Amino acid sequence: MKRLLLFVILSTTLLFLTTCEKKEPVSGNEPYPESIVLGFSQLGAESDWRTANSESIKTAARDAGIQLMFSDGQQKQENQIKAIRSFIANQVDVIAFSPLVESGWDTVLKEAKDAGIPVIITDRAIKTEDDSLYVALMCSDFREEGKKAGKWLVEKLQETKRDINVVELQGNMGSSPTILRKEGFEEIIKERPNIQIIQSVCADFMKSKGYEAMEELLKLEGDKIDVLYAHNDDMAIGAIKAIEEYGLKPGKDIIIVSIDANRGAFEKMIEGKLNCTVECNPLLGPMLMQAVRDVVAGIAIPKRIIIPGSVFPEEVAAQELENRKY
Ligand code: AHR
Repeated sequence: MKRLLLFVILSTTLLFLTTCEKKEPVSGNEPYPESIVLGFSQLGAESDWRTANSESIKTAARDAGIQLMFSDGQQKQENQIKAIRSFIANQVDVIAFSPLVESGWDTVLKEAKDAGIPVIITDRAIKTEDDSLYVALMCSDFREEGKKAGKWLVEKLQETKRDINVVELQGNMGSSPTILRKEGFEEIIKERPNIQIIQSVCADFMKSKGYEAMEELLKLEGDKIDVLYAHNDDMAIGAIKAIEEYGLKPGKDIIIVSIDANRGAFEKMIEGKLNCTVECNPLLGPMLMQAVRDVVAGIAIPKRIIIPGSVFPEEVAAQELENRKY
């Protein structure tokens, strides 16, 4: 009887140990057995959005155990092309990049394809005749963002019959958010002939340039300006400073709508200096790392992955602030 009892205890212990050894990873964050190397070419560090985007990519790579070669293109396409070439020379497993502008990528992407390295494009789109040059594009719907900004404005000015003069601060020329946010906004406001864009200038998505551009616009148009549409929050925040220095009240004398929905914009809305921001989510890191793992594992991923976003008017800013992650 004693022997039988001993046998039962021993076999139960053995079964328990075997079960423990077989435990599968639960979070998906454990490093893969074979380390994956990802080369990522970031376009620069022009805005708070970009800072949050770079951080998200670095953190997610670390969490996923993916070795990251990160390069900052400093707002120069040639730097990004150089970085991609060096990733190819280093035979990384996957290349990802956020393109500064839409055109001019075919040659280097062909080189990556010839080297058998899959490419994932994040954040901004490229213009190419050959979409076999990349496996996936992961980005927000910029045209839709422009349309959302336009719809919010049209609704806000529903009852206003007089002429409304809009000034527009654009992002960097030739980039997909600049092109599409402009087109989307224009598509909506053309339904209302009394709302007109009277000036449209480029401020490269930067706070400092938003400030300078708005200073100039105020010198040119002064009190004629009713609305500022800025392609991102940073430029709007720079412009707010210029408007205050000019002696007008941002958010009251000049209605302001911008894009990104970063914390800075929420703070300005709470102060009553910005009226609406349209969300463009920069936290793409975890999604990118999942796509990288899938591509390496030979799992097919969608060609176009669209990141959703909401609209935040000033009325909800205070209650939403604590939920903002960037
Ligand atoms: O491509 C995304 C845009 O680039 C963001 O709206 C802007 O803030 C950034 O610099």
